[in-house]
Amino acid sequence: MDKLLIEGGPRLAGEIAISGAKNAALPLLCAALLTRDPVTFTHVPDLNDIGTMLRLLAQMGVKVEREGSTVTLDAGGLDTPVAPYELVKTMRASILVLGPLVARMGEARVSLPGGCAIGARPVDQHIKGLQAMGAEIAVEQGYVHARTARLKGARLFTDMVTVTGTENLMMAACLAAGETVIENAAREPEVVDLANCLVAMGARISGAGTDVIRIQGVESLHGTTHRIMPDRIETGTYLCAAAATGGDVRLTGTSACYLDAVVDKLMDAGCEIETGRDFIHLHASRRLTAVSIRTAPYPAFPTDMQAQFMAINTVAEGTAVIRETIFENRYMHAVELIRLGADIRIDGNTAVVQGKPALEGATVMATDLRASASLVIAGLVARGETLVERIYHLDRGYEHLEQKLAALGARVRRVR
Ligand code: UD1
Repeated sequence: MDKLLIEGGPRLAGEIAISGAKNAALPLLCAALLTRDPVTFTHVPDLNDIGTMLRLLAQMGVKVEREGSTVTLDAGGLDTPVAPYELVKTMRASILVLGPLVARMGEARVSLPGGCAIGARPVDQHIKGLQAMGAEIAVEQGYVHARTARLKGARLFTDMVTVTGTENLMMAACLAAGETVIENAAREPEVVDLANCLVAMGARISGAGTDVIRIQGVESLHGTTHRIMPDRIETGTYLCAAAATGGDVRLTGTSACYLDAVVDKLMDAGCEIETGRDFIHLHASRRLTAVSIRTAPYPAFPTDMQAQFMAINTVAEGTAVIRETIFENRYMHAVELIRLGADIRIDGNTAVVQGKPALEGATVMATDLRASASLVIAGLVARGETLVERIYHLDRGYEHLEQKLAALGARVRRVR
């Protein structure tokens, strides 16, 4: 299994381009299931999760063509509306095929994703929404089996804000008969990116980006070409890496408009940040000041940036209080950061981080995608060498991580 060897110390400096967003690309690829026409996506990141999704779609009968960062999907021959456990278990976002499959084929068999490292993460809201739209749903032998003649528009209310839940129901509603209203909808920019693509395919959607989305169902959708939005979490992760090392970094092909809450906190920590339509420039000239955060649905501070902020707080001046309100078990990185010398106390969903002047390199283990990113950031500032094990998590969500870090002057090497 690959590991990442990081020699801490160098200040990150230079310019890198941000990749297309994983969390936008995954639902967008599933949207291609809604039409018989080919759909082309550009700026698709080269990530393991994308490979998994393309394999999943291919085994359903979707023709997949991939050339560099351009992917064309042709679901004209879609004949197997099944998502098997072997693929779903490696990637929870596979559940995003459920809505489109039921809407277009009137049937779907999708394995339940099960638990994962960061909590129970059920899909009850996806199921409840589809039932309200008239689907008959049975959960048998670990599979969600959904059937219907044609989905009917309905008023949907989700018990909590769910990103993939909103996306699944929005996609399903595009082909339903009549109007669907999703209340308490997720407002994440990835939901808006998906809605923009669906509208370009002929869907009638309004309100994406607010907490009430209205969809007028249509008979069929057609093909289009869509460019995936920049990855705001990748952006935030490199900003944190630059900030922690006292660096000077320009990120291109991205925009601060997707991550106001993160940029705000980095400025509170003492970073100077200049933003333009398609770039963010961060300059950190002194030791960071500790910043407290509380995760919540967009536009508040994203849970996917919590671990990286814990890492920068470990070497900041002062004490930070971190509250995780989205996932019940998302502090696995804390014990690994403690192995590097960090001072962190956890009490339920609250973590108190007392900043220290320095961390010491050690061997640590990545437990999930963003936890891994926090360990990389800590490794970049720790004295000596840090070996991050199980970096397959990073390969799921960060495109060309070592190359990008190396381009900024970091000393990182993949070892087998
Ligand atoms: C998405 C993101 C993930 C991010 C998360 C929260 C993708 C592919 N993944 O995950 O990176 O961390 O949003 O911003 O976009 N819940 C239920 N029942 C449901 C659905 C959700 O109880 O049916 C709960 C979850 O357990 C969690 C909360 O609702 O506690 C939010 O989860 P959700 O927004 O659905 O996360 P994902 O869409 O899986």
